[in-house]
Amino acid sequence: MTTIGYFVGSWAEGSVNRKLARTLVEQAPEDVEMRDLDISGLPLYGRHLDEDFPQVMQDFKDRVEAVDGLLIVTPEHNQSFPAAVKNAVDILTRPGGTSVLRGRPVTIAGASPGRFGTISSQSQLRQFLPMLGVRFMGTPNLAVGGAKDVFDDDGVADEQTAARARKFVAAFADFIRA
Ligand SMILES: Cc1cc2nc3c(=O)[nH]c(=O)nc-3n(C[C@H](O)[C@H](O)[C@H](O)COP(=O)(O)O)c2cc1C
Repeated sequence: MTTIGYFVGSWAEGSVNRKLARTLVEQAPEDVEMRDLDISGLPLYGRHLDEDFPQVMQDFKDRVEAVDGLLIVTPEHNQSFPAAVKNAVDILTRPGGTSVLRGRPVTIAGASPGRFGTISSQSQLRQFLPMLGVRFMGTPNLAVGGAKDVFDDDGVADEQTAARARKFVAAFADFIRA
């Protein structure tokens, strides 16, 4: 069994990224376990916390360490990724020398109602994540545009998006095992 941990960079009601994450869970191969790592309860990181690292942050690091690969499903906010995503990544690398990202397979996905489907957000994540020593899967990519039309009211994706999600999560599982 391969385990993929994921977190969603939005906790808005009706989040299209939550719907995309749900689609990825539904489309995961049978030998892949998907685990929600949930960042919504994480406090804001500050350097002074390294001295007495908060248990909630350590628990999050432990949950990431327990999975084989990490998937970040995130919206685009103001042409970039939300601060909550960066906060979560910063926590995973602290205190210095204890990063749980080094060598870890990581990839990203996202959805937005606009035409471009989070490509600015994703291009910025692609800039810095590889610098953290992760093993980054850059292709295939999953940037879902027009998201309001892609998911129905219950959050179920259309056929084409479900098929893209299926290919994407299978490719990430292969990437992790390679
Ligand atoms: C603060 C803020 C900034 C946004 N900036 C962008 C943007 O730069 N590009 C874009 O495509 N959508 C942008 N949006 C629209 C989001 O893509 C849209 O709200 C989307 O539903 C957010 O994902 P979620 O539903 O998973 O929360 C922005 C939304 C917010 C709240």
